[in-house]
Amino acid sequence: MSSVFKLERPFRNDGGHAFVAQAPAGLMEAIAGRSYYVGLNENGVGVGPGDAIHQAIRDSGAGRYSVWNNSIWFSAPDNSNCNENGREYELTLTDVSRDSGVYRKIADTIYQDDAILLQFVSQNFERNNSVFGNFFRSRSSVELFLKRVGADMPKRIVEVGCGATPWLGVRFLLDGVERYVATDIMKVASTFPAAPLRDLKLICQQIDVSLTSRWDAVLPENGDEPIAPRGLEVHGEVGFETLDIGDDFDFLMSLAVLEHVMDPDGVYRKMSECLGTGDLMLHFIDLRDHRSFDERPLGFLEMTAEEYKAINTENRLRVSQHRALMDQYGFDIISESDHVLGADGGRHWVGPDEAITPGVTEAMRERFTGEFRSMSLRDLSTLSVAVMCRKR
Ligand SMILES: C[S@@+](CC[C@H](N)C(=O)[O-])C[C@H]1O[C@@H](n2cnc3c(N)ncnc32)[C@H](O)[C@@H]1O
Repeated sequence: MSSVFKLERPFRNDGGHAFVAQAPAGLMEAIAGRSYYVGLNENGVGVGPGDAIHQAIRDSGAGRYSVWNNSIWFSAPDNSNCNENGREYELTLTDVSRDSGVYRKIADTIYQDDAILLQFVSQNFERNNSVFGNFFRSRSSVELFLKRVGADMPKRIVEVGCGATPWLGVRFLLDGVERYVATDIMKVASTFPAAPLRDLKLICQQIDVSLTSRWDAVLPENGDEPIAPRGLEVHGEVGFETLDIGDDFDFLMSLAVLEHVMDPDGVYRKMSECLGTGDLMLHFIDLRDHRSFDERPLGFLEMTAEEYKAINTENRLRVSQHRALMDQYGFDIISESDHVLGADGGRHWVGPDEAITPGVTEAMRERFTGEFRSMSLRDLSTLSVAVMCRKR
């Protein structure tokens, strides 16, 4: 089913290229309950992308739009004034629920086209907290670092900042880990729906049947009931630094988390409390400005603390500050790989003592603010880091 809803003038200008229209009568009722793709047409021609961030609609426009709380934020493809350009704007609703024809058509296309299927899977690998990204990719990265320092498979693991779905925990439990504590400040699932787990099992059986040798012991099925993995302990909606989980662990890890924690001191202190002498911890830390990973990865270092307060999604600590905290809380770094911006414009994985001409120049450093101006060019050029530590 597809239906059309015309947007009626006058539209309110919301700054820049953004205009706001009231939701047409019946629209919100129509989209409640089922899954719809909401398109925007200008004079009968589709524009987009939809679900755009409102600031991007204001700043860049170019047809971006968003349906939000009974209102439609939108922009003209040529950034003309939507109130005065005389063009007709309408929303089109296309039912994409699982039992709709559109859904079946798209699903058939995906199953049958290896190129599209592979594209979907490779995108899933890149997404945070995704099944391929965590169950397969992150698991391999952790194993690589454990092997590099000659460590055995840990038995009792705590993960800081696992995300909403602890896929990595499920994987480690299937690999023989006895206790896996998954923590996050966001809600964390403690059970998994049965159907996707059945699919995951089938995938594992095709890729490497040994992955399923402990499946029934870890993921006991009960018809279509959600499954609680045996050995998984979840602590959601609470900062790791405030948890009381004891010290019965031999390994702790975090993936893309330590750049986000707002009380790094408290988090490093708690990590130290969780582990005993000789225990290991591994962190993958992305030190880039998350608003612009590739184009301006250090853009946020040009903002004062006051200016950055409005964003505040990362703590902006540099690698030297993480190393200092590790040392302060009783950890020796036993293996480290740095992803460093080089003077050739490329990004290179190097050891901390390996020479490389840093990409950040003195002129660039001049543009940074406060404490960042006194840091070494190498420190500032380090864009992400993987660090394995041992507790002293
Ligand atoms: C970029 S996501 C990474 C998620 C997951 N580790 C992955 O690799 O897919 C960062 C996660 O850190 C969590 N986080 C941030 N501060 C935290 C804290 N103080 N304690 C626990 N989790 C935290 C966030 O809620 C978010 O889920």
